[in-house]
Amino acid sequence: MGFFDGLKREKRDNESITQSSQYISELETDNDTNNDFEEEIEVIERSVIQQPIQDVPMPPLKTYKDKAPVKHVIGQTKIIAIINQKGGVGKSTTAVNLAAALGSLGKQVLLVDLDPQGNSSSGLGVMKSQIKNCIYDVLLNDVPIEEVIIPDICEGVDIVPATINLAGAEVELVTEMARENRLKDATGSLRGKYDYILIDCPPALGLLTINALVAADKLIIPIQCEFYALEGVTKLLDSMKRVKSRLNPTLDIYGVLLTMYDGRTTLSRQVVEEVRNYFGKSVFKTLIPRTVKLSEAPSYGQPIITYDPAGKGAIAYMDLAKEVVQRG
Ligand SMILES: Nc1ncnc2c1ncn2[C@@H]1O[C@H](COP(=O)(O)OP(=O)(O)OP(=O)(O)O)[C@@H](O)[C@H]1O
Ligand SMILES: [Mg+2]
Repeated sequence: MGFFDGLKREKRDNESITQSSQYISELETDNDTNNDFEEEIEVIERSVIQQPIQDVPMPPLKTYKDKAPVKHVIGQTKIIAIINQKGGVGKSTTAVNLAAALGSLGKQVLLVDLDPQGNSSSGLGVMKSQIKNCIYDVLLNDVPIEEVIIPDICEGVDIVPATINLAGAEVELVTEMARENRLKDATGSLRGKYDYILIDCPPALGLLTINALVAADKLIIPIQCEFYALEGVTKLLDSMKRVKSRLNPTLDIYGVLLTMYDGRTTLSRQVVEEVRNYFGKSVFKTLIPRTVKLSEAPSYGQPIITYDPAGKGAIAYMDLAKEVVQRG
């Protein structure tokens, strides 16, 4: 467990205890002898304790210099962009939970949040008030990526966070030299330091996504098991081919991931069949189920393997991590 996790939990627990005991003492004064209220108090306590985390000022996080040395020998670093210009298909959910699952399997993982929405950052409990520099400063202000890395955000996982500042990058990069290579240059220095570098892409095919396509060795394409699942995929594959032929000859699909699968619906099953026909063996065997827990976990700043370790979502992302490791 990271330093920040501890602080966050301690703070949340303290707040919950204070607020809960206030409620309890108020209720006790009003109804000294009423046993029915014990039940009510328990309900209130539970609801207070389960409040999602808020972005309140927090102490600064650890820096890369404080990172504990990696215990195993790192072979070839794999840089994988999680990409689909279609919005809401499960890119950030996959980035956060695959990173955490790989970390729990003993791998060293860096998660690069390349989306101005910053969903991967907040999903792992990074609060805006704690971030001095973000990936924007790496891409446009020549800040070394090591200075932006927050180490050990969860077991085996470091993160390069994003803030809304990154929204300006799409426009500002246009006039820069070597604008497509910024992320590749930055992540180059990290090869050999991580087993996996995962990049969470924004829902667009702009310059940020092109930077991810140039920096990546491979792509994971999440596809939501919904109507129009394959819409826009041809455009994505065209962009991949263009970058491959001009800037990154070894770029390839690592795997297509079916997300938000609901086995009770015919539609979900049809989409699985359609996507498997289209992409063949590239499709991961693991299907990510639609579960409420997966959508709740980010508001608690936790990956699913700690938020609901025994649930369907955690099992699926652990299976996916094992498949990723097996694919080599
Ligand atoms: N397997 C799942 N089960 C239930 N809800 C999910 C699942 N995967 C993702 N979600 C929810 O669906 C929404 C979109 O997911 P997510 O943010 O991961 O998609 P995205 O592709 O990163 O979106 P964007 O394109 O905006 O970056 C979120 O509210 C998320 O919590
Ligand atoms: Mg996202």
